Amino acid sequence: MARAGALVLFGVTGDLARKMLLPALYHLTAEGRFDLPVIGVAKTDLDLDGLREHARQACGGVRDAAFEKLAGNLRLVAGDYGDPATFARLREETEGKGFLCHYLAVPPALFEVVAEGLAGQGLNRDARLVVEKPFGHDLSSARELNDRLLRHFDEDHLRRVDHFLGKEPVEDLMVFRFANTLLEPIWNRSHIRSVQITMAEDFDVSDRGAFYDANGTVRDVVQNHLLQLLAILAMDPPPSIDARAQLDEKWRVLRAVKAIDPADVVRGQYTGYLDTDGVRPGSTTETYVAMRAYIDNWRWAGVPWCIRSGKALPTTDLEIVAELFRPPVTMFGNGDAPDTPNLIRFRLQPDAGVTFDLLVKEPGKQHARPVPVSVDFTKVLGPMEAAYARILFDAVSGDPRRFARFDLVEESWRIVQPVLDPGQAPLPYAKGSWGPEPAAHIPPGGWHEISTTFD
Ligand code: BG6
Repeated sequence: MARAGALVLFGVTGDLARKMLLPALYHLTAEGRFDLPVIGVAKTDLDLDGLREHARQACGGVRDAAFEKLAGNLRLVAGDYGDPATFARLREETEGKGFLCHYLAVPPALFEVVAEGLAGQGLNRDARLVVEKPFGHDLSSARELNDRLLRHFDEDHLRRVDHFLGKEPVEDLMVFRFANTLLEPIWNRSHIRSVQITMAEDFDVSDRGAFYDANGTVRDVVQNHLLQLLAILAMDPPPSIDARAQLDEKWRVLRAVKAIDPADVVRGQYTGYLDTDGVRPGSTTETYVAMRAYIDNWRWAGVPWCIRSGKALPTTDLEIVAELFRPPVTMFGNGDAPDTPNLIRFRLQPDAGVTFDLLVKEPGKQHARPVPVSVDFTKVLGPMEAAYARILFDAVSGDPRRFARFDLVEESWRIVQPVLDPGQAPLPYAKGSWGPEPAAHIPPGGWHEISTTFD
């Protein structure tokens, strides 16, 4: 877990750096948590002053001491990643800077090229390599990519980014589960009827047509982000907070998740997707998916874990709803309607918090009705840190807990492998709807409406 003496940022002029990484570095600098040389690498016509101005714009045009400090730390190595001379210049630039953190904010097709270029100059020694998602396209390509990277960096010196692991509300799940004793006795197949994970986005694929069309929803968010969430929610308590202990438990639970049965999946594509720039004519890529996953272990056997995600849905929300079994005897039902079940809701985006939907007596009546008992974490605890600030901080300091270890990546590809590229056209759905109608039947009893806000 060596602390880096410098950050080498490949793709410094790219989209990810502009939207996420440079603002996160500025934020860390302003907080006094980051003060290291940042050597940007890119094929660019910019000179160092141009890069500094580019960074300033990425950080909202700021002109303050924190930005000046970050700008003073910036260096630029401009050149082609396929050209050994680029890496020779990088070696000169990094001379004497100690342990290096190479962050690859570049398309995956370039991961190996960059790793080789680094190794050609000995820049893989005393260094770690951080790569962005997607890590592979399926199980075998992920293994191949891993083997190739392992030629130059061993597992201890490789970090695979899944930015969801940097989100504080995601970590809240683990704290909520394991810092309280409230949930653990009921957090199993005897009390939980189903778990529903919804990641909805109200925007379409927009200018990401070519990227999205080559991937689709399962690869884009289920294999990585949503299975990571499932692992955190379903895993057994790790013996300690230690990174290895957490990663081992996540691996154990993913290992128990059965490969998804195509009969448990509904795929959708919003109307108009085929007209997007970069999308292949007649493409069968899904922009929506709903599926049931089953975990074959003592805690969860038989409980459906229902996952849905899509673009162009009615709202942008990330919420998990665990439904408890109803009481065995209906005493306070309203007419013929049975008591509604208790729900435990974890909201992760855009706000964060927990809501218990409990039943209380309706005043003046003999029946009960559900009321939400909520806590909005931001209101109580203040704002949360951006995911990429935490990812970058860990990338530089070496802590592996918020990255995807390869055995977890392998398990998650195994889980989704049977439902990748089925070759059939997905069902159409209208933009702004909740996806194709048959998806409504994925959870037993249908999806619970998500809460959308605490107010
Ligand atoms: C990315 C996906 O990994 O995650 C996007 O490629 C998706 O399609 C995004 O929109 C969601 O992340 P966030 O942090 O904006 O919720």
